[in-house]
Amino acid sequence: MYGNRNASGGGTRPAGGSTPTADGTARQHRRKVTAPALQARKGGQPIAMVTAYDYTMARLLDRAGVDILLVGDSLGMVVQGRSSTIPVTLEEACYHTRAVARGAEYAHVVGDMPFMSFQVSATQAVQSAGKLVKDGMAESVKLEGGEDVAEHVSRIVRAGIPVMGHVGLTPQSVHALGGYRVQGKGQNAAERIVADAIALEQAGAYAIVLEAMPPDAAAEVTEAVSVPTIGIGAGAGCDGQVLVCYDMLGMTVGHNPKFAKHFAEVGDQIHTAVQDYVREVRDGSFPGPEHCYRTNESRSEKKKLAVV
Ligand code: KIV
Repeated sequence: MYGNRNASGGGTRPAGGSTPTADGTARQHRRKVTAPALQARKGGQPIAMVTAYDYTMARLLDRAGVDILLVGDSLGMVVQGRSSTIPVTLEEACYHTRAVARGAEYAHVVGDMPFMSFQVSATQAVQSAGKLVKDGMAESVKLEGGEDVAEHVSRIVRAGIPVMGHVGLTPQSVHALGGYRVQGKGQNAAERIVADAIALEQAGAYAIVLEAMPPDAAAEVTEAVSVPTIGIGAGAGCDGQVLVCYDMLGMTVGHNPKFAKHFAEVGDQIHTAVQDYVREVRDGSFPGPEHCYRTNESRSEKKKLAVV
């Protein structure tokens, strides 16, 4: 497995369109992406979501045009090096979401609700979601589960916080599922996922992540709900896609899931760059004069005179 806002949600810049620049090219204006705007994309332009966990990566992804930055609880695995997402705490989720929110000028920022931050009761779910929005600067929250958590979703939504659902492979339930297995295999299993997704939609979720399921099951869910579905390992029949940033950039160490296309091999580039750095430090070719501040001429002149 892995700012700025105004009443229309359109930010302080013009709403869409383009402005000619000095070199004659057109610069596209982008609006801050909001949950209602994402919900309205059902069946329209596919939604591109990527995970992010820190400010620098968030800025890069935001500038490249992603619609949603998901601060996934996958941070437990890809940032903290744990073997599952289960130990991630709400405080850790808030810390990473804040860092990402500072780098997200346009992309919508979704904070993932960690294991046991929402399952206990609807009241606990509202409190945790509120913390992710108040302390974590999240613009919406995501939580795993279907019918079982529908009441919790409804209460969070009624508190004014948009919710993204997550069905299929729900990694926080890894022990109950018996491993990170593809879900929705066979008609009955697929129908259960459809029922979960419908329950989330009825509870007010504005979008639903579909993780690790056969493409036909994901397409069935997408057909059955009126909110966008965002797939990961769920085929092309969804309203959008999500990937873990390190997976799509070729930075993941170890197992690479089949669905995680590498759009670059940044891991290899880092390896070569750091090897070059180590060599240049050791052979004295770094730092060169161009990497040094100007020498203090007057002091070295005085030293020379003193020697004479
Ligand atoms: O935690 C995460 O990164 C996720 C995505 C893989 C959907 O939930």
